[in-house]
Amino acid sequence: MQIEGFMKYEQILKTIYKEVTSLENTGEVASYIPELAKVSKDHFGMYLNRIDGNNYAEGDTDTKFSIQSISKVFSLTVAFANQGDALWNRVDVEPSGNPFNYLSLLEREKGIPRNPLINSGAIVVADCLVSTLKNPKKDFLQFVRDLADDQTINFNEEVAASEKATGFKNYAIANLLKSYNNLANPVEEVLDFYFHQCSIEMNCKQLSNAFVPYANKGKSLLNDACVSAKQAKRINAIMLTCGFYDEAGEFAFEVGLPGKSGVGGGIVALLPNEFVITTWSPALNEKGNSYYGMQALEKFTTQTNSSIF
Ligand code: DON
Repeated sequence: MQIEGFMKYEQILKTIYKEVTSLENTGEVASYIPELAKVSKDHFGMYLNRIDGNNYAEGDTDTKFSIQSISKVFSLTVAFANQGDALWNRVDVEPSGNPFNYLSLLEREKGIPRNPLINSGAIVVADCLVSTLKNPKKDFLQFVRDLADDQTINFNEEVAASEKATGFKNYAIANLLKSYNNLANPVEEVLDFYFHQCSIEMNCKQLSNAFVPYANKGKSLLNDACVSAKQAKRINAIMLTCGFYDEAGEFAFEVGLPGKSGVGGGIVALLPNEFVITTWSPALNEKGNSYYGMQALEKFTTQTNSSIF
């Protein structure tokens, strides 16, 4: 699906920006990680990275924000590339229909998380990376920098420390995983890695660039094959069914693309072989997904007729 001409996309993003910002922003900035509550609710940006090489920016696309759960896609990518299908012995690929930090399901299902994008699954994936990477935090950060072709990307140590101080549910999840022998490394070490991966800061442009492999059969912006085409297909399927937790059905219904959200207010979505689009607006709806972001992406796929359905 191709809309002719540069002006068209530029105009579409401008119109959507106006339409969305005229809505009352009923969302709230996440505060359960105290450091995130300091971000103003007023930011809003959209960045469209087309696989044909054309890029379009509207609004606040240069300010860095906490990518939080969006980082789970990157950690999944490294673990899947390193371990292949053996990864699925420790984490399933079914939507959970529950909030991202839900605990009970994990006990009922004997320590096998429903999928790698809820917290329990991402903590198992973090454990895999702590086991297999030589310098886990440094190597993971380098992977993300190379994906985005931008060496300025970094952890935010204040955000990581803030989550460490208040992340009681994640400690409960990690201890439960440990009790079911689904965590090889010490809880502290795995969570230190996990809190750091979530604290990575990127802007809309960097995130769109970093997500190119999922829209481009595994090949990054720099043409490195970071996963196979088959693995990129599988990661997209997981994003479509599990990327928005108990709002995954709603996102497929309204937007119709694989994607991933984070409590920092970012959402990245993509149409294979066509484009990656990132939105950022820190105020979240009651399910923990960006209110403006969801609205903008619904308008974008409807107005450009570009969902996978
Ligand atoms: O573990 C947490 O709660 C956060 N570091 C990440 C949660 C998150 O981004 C959920 N996404 N919408």
